[in-house]
Amino acid sequence: MSYVRKEISIDEIKKQEEICLQIKEILCAEGKQPMALVDTYGCQQNEADSEKLRGYLQLMGCGFTDDEFLADIILVNTCAVREHAEMRVLGNVGSLNHTKKNKPDQIISVCGCMVQQQHMADKVKKSYPVVDLVFGPHELWRFPELLLKHIQSHKRVFSRCESDGVIAEGIPRNRDSKVKAWLSIMNGCNNFCTYCIVPYTRGRERSRRPEDVVAEARELVAAGYKEITLLGQNVNSYGKDLNCGVDFADLIRMINDIPGEFLIRFMTSHPKDATEKLFKTMAECEKCAHQIHLPVQSGNDHILKRMNRCYDREKYMQQVEMARSYMPDLVLTTDIIVGFPGETDEEFEDTIKLCQDVRFDSMFTFIYSKRQGTPAATMPDPFTREQKQVHFDKLMAVSNAISAEKHKAYEGKTYKVLVDGETGKDEYNLSSRTNGGRLVHLKGDPALIGKFINVKITSSNTWALYGEIDNG
Ligand code: 5AD
Ligand code: SF4
Repeated sequence: MSYVRKEISIDEIKKQEEICLQIKEILCAEGKQPMALVDTYGCQQNEADSEKLRGYLQLMGCGFTDDEFLADIILVNTCAVREHAEMRVLGNVGSLNHTKKNKPDQIISVCGCMVQQQHMADKVKKSYPVVDLVFGPHELWRFPELLLKHIQSHKRVFSRCESDGVIAEGIPRNRDSKVKAWLSIMNGCNNFCTYCIVPYTRGRERSRRPEDVVAEARELVAAGYKEITLLGQNVNSYGKDLNCGVDFADLIRMINDIPGEFLIRFMTSHPKDATEKLFKTMAECEKCAHQIHLPVQSGNDHILKRMNRCYDREKYMQQVEMARSYMPDLVLTTDIIVGFPGETDEEFEDTIKLCQDVRFDSMFTFIYSKRQGTPAATMPDPFTREQKQVHFDKLMAVSNAISAEKHKAYEGKTYKVLVDGETGKDEYNLSSRTNGGRLVHLKGDPALIGKFINVKITSSNTWALYGEIDNG
């Protein structure tokens, strides 16, 4: 598989920024600030993309709203991983008929992975006339140009480019939080797990240069961010396409060397190529959280093979053991797919057994969703949705019980947490995270947001810990 790295030059991004100013003149002509709404579905990579879209919108002079009736521009940044997310998007886009009736000049755009699939772009074109602008993830960098085209022509713009993906540095950002930041280190995926649409929508693996990643991390630390989450579909492949001698573990060390008090997290790690060097580096770098999201997907070797995961149960268990030997306090989470085509009761029981053996801190469980164009979509799938639901419910019960037991063990102990926001509830008004990423609710002054403090855990349930500030 050959992929030629395609970098978008800084000049091209500058051109997009100039277009933003041109759009600002048009939109602000009547002296009123235009309002924008960016609605994001799916993964953290999409959240990071939406921060770029909002960066451009801010340059266009837009303010931001959550109310679709007030928005002059609506951008729906979509996900394609499961059918359920696509259905939600289509339902919500359909309901925008009402808002556009009230506000005929409203501009509605659908972008992201869902519309990178030709059949979904066609569906939007045919059945959702309310949509003015459609573009896929490879064209996010030229959103201003596409928007201007629509504004000037008053025509619907559908721009879906067949591409293995690009690298674009320097796109302006409007970040969601002042405490926690997403830092995308690479894009795309080369793994082609047989159930997954991502390699088709996000293209081939391409890493940002280490100096660009480190420069962005430095900026974030200087701006006061306390938690940086490095993002990639498979961070363990970082750097392989660059041949620059820097792998993911090296990158963590480079970021760890930046002076300041902050935490480094990352996701997602593919178990096939998580290395001892990575676990050792995590243990040695004091800013790196002892947390790893290591999606296992199934505990059965036959299913793992048919998923094209390139590891078996034994290799996965070895990885877990090795990671825990370096970090006994490691928080380990996973993803599991239930009901992969043809998965039998016995094969499913192997997944339950693996979960009981590993005892994940928490698990994200999904019922298999058929994705058009993937190899699994053509595999015989004899079991009904109801049968899969029974397995799903059983796995959830096992997972919830383990999470609750693991949380119980925190009670009575004191942990350093990063306070990251308000909950909107009286009793426990602040939310925070432990080093391993567990959610802790506590009562305290909102001025603590963005600070590391000690909290004594007083109670817990399956989903969260509850605590009080421990000054002693
Ligand atoms: N059906 C169900 N779950 C899926 N995932 C990816 N593709 C599918 C699919 N077709 C899950 C995997 C992955 C997570 C992000 O989404 O568990 O790790
Ligand atoms: Fe999808 Fe597999 Fe790539 Fe993850 S590693 S994005 S599950 S193909």
